[in-house]
Amino acid sequence: MIDVLVLSRNNEAQDICSFELASVDGSPLPAFSAGAHIDVQVADGLIRQYSLCNHPEERHRYLIGVLKDPASRGGSRSLHEQIKVGSRLRISEPRNLFPLVQGARRSLLFAGGIGITPILCFAERLAHSGAEFELHYCARSSERAAFVERMSRSAFAERVFLHFDEQPQTVLDAAKVLASPQDNIHLYVCGPGGFMQYVLDSARAQGWQEDHLHCEYFSAVPVDNLNDGCFSVQVASTGQVVEVAADQSVAQALESHGIEIAMSCEQGICGTCLTRVLDGVPEHRDLFLTEEEQALNDQFTPCCSRSKTPLLVLDI
Ligand code: FES
Repeated sequence: MIDVLVLSRNNEAQDICSFELASVDGSPLPAFSAGAHIDVQVADGLIRQYSLCNHPEERHRYLIGVLKDPASRGGSRSLHEQIKVGSRLRISEPRNLFPLVQGARRSLLFAGGIGITPILCFAERLAHSGAEFELHYCARSSERAAFVERMSRSAFAERVFLHFDEQPQTVLDAAKVLASPQDNIHLYVCGPGGFMQYVLDSARAQGWQEDHLHCEYFSAVPVDNLNDGCFSVQVASTGQVVEVAADQSVAQALESHGIEIAMSCEQGICGTCLTRVLDGVPEHRDLFLTEEEQALNDQFTPCCSRSKTPLLVLDI
């Protein structure tokens, strides 16, 4: 983890605040690529992920945008209410699960609400490298749209299209924007689940190929758990075998036997609970590991993932 200082905080929109972070001793921060996020320890035992939204060439600071979620379990509320200029925070090194495809002929960027944070970083990167792109930003109202002034003053201002629900003439017509899928044009979308579904469904209806569609979730996608069965996990260090019921997570089953797994998001996003698997095949339900990492089947997230085999042996 890295200790950082809050250099500044700004109200970017209704309920959206940005925090500018720098290392405590002024040394350069680890480099990051567009689309990367950091884990922020917002309180004891509570870690949340935030996309970096400053220019990816910058090493002297990280900028994150935080939406105060009315349903917050303490994460965004704590940042909004308790973190001031001069506060210290602990963060992880940047990690990128939402990278830009190199060498694309054109990129179409779609952001909904707070989903603007990684998308803004993409726009900075694409503009800097002279790539062709356009950015569509949707929000309920202009008051809820963050970083609009920064975009309007940027070198890519004419490529930004704003869509506000309260102004019907501006509402995004995704089918129209996505009417011409072509090889080597890539689509990126980040925002609330319904918004992402609308953009992705519109693209698929227009014939876009799956490998040209890229998205990042802020919360877990609902999974159908009607067919979940029971299985067992074995604690490698003691040999103890614990039954996992159909309506229980592995972490819950272990906890009921006094075996604690450190957790934060409890929905497969943060990776806090990542556990090595020594035998058996996990059924991955997380959004933390890449497809390649999941395919190795040597680690899994016990907060939400299950097992394809009757027994999983865990390195705990
Ligand atoms: Fe976050 Fe399991 S607790 S991935």
